[in-house]
Amino acid sequence: MNDFSLMPLRDDLIPSLKIISKSWVDDNSFWAVEDILKTLKSQASEAYLVFNVYSHCVGFMFVTWTGFESELLFVYCKEGQRGLGIGRHMLNHWICEAMKRKLNELFLEVSANNQTAIKLYESMGFRKLRTISNYYKNGDDAFAYGKRLEYKLD
Ligand SMILES: CC(C)(COP(=O)(O)OP(=O)(O)OC[C@H]1O[C@@H](n2cnc3c(N)ncnc32)[C@H](O)[C@@H]1OP(=O)(O)O)[C@@H](O)C(=O)NCCC(=O)NCCS
Repeated sequence: MNDFSLMPLRDDLIPSLKIISKSWVDDNSFWAVEDILKTLKSQASEAYLVFNVYSHCVGFMFVTWTGFESELLFVYCKEGQRGLGIGRHMLNHWICEAMKRKLNELFLEVSANNQTAIKLYESMGFRKLRTISNYYKNGDDAFAYGKRLEYKLD
């Protein structure tokens, strides 16, 4: 993962977000750029981009912060760049940020049909909490997952 760099989304990186979002535009269960930007303005939230050595944007992650919890709204790695550890790197960054903020718990929802993402989340210690029927526009169910953050006492 050393050949990639993760950066918080800033105004000057919005063009990169627009470019990577073209890769998921046909999947209407994923986030539209306008909705990402609106949410960033209206809620405590943060977005991150991952760039490769050629400065191409290959990953995107979007999370909200609420009280002592954080929710993953979207994580995406560009096709052709998958399986290289970018998804895991983004989630590790989320977990580290949440621990810096001393949060208690992380949450996410994932399509019950998205075996790749489910495998990734479970390998990182997320546990299935419940099934949400007909969660997505196409009628797919979602699984809600959570992870309690543990802190060592000094
Ligand atoms: C889910 C997603 C972000 C994973 O990103 P990635 O960079 O390919 O993931 P990583 O390379 O870090 O792989 C991490 C783990 O995911 C799982 N995984 C990755 N590719 C997989 C595949 N093709 N089949 C099954 N599991 C897979 C494995 O557990 C892997 O760990 P391992 O390499 O130790 O076996 C990516 O597949 C993606 O963008 N999918 C489309 C968007 C999406 O579905 N987002 C999640 C819902 S919002």
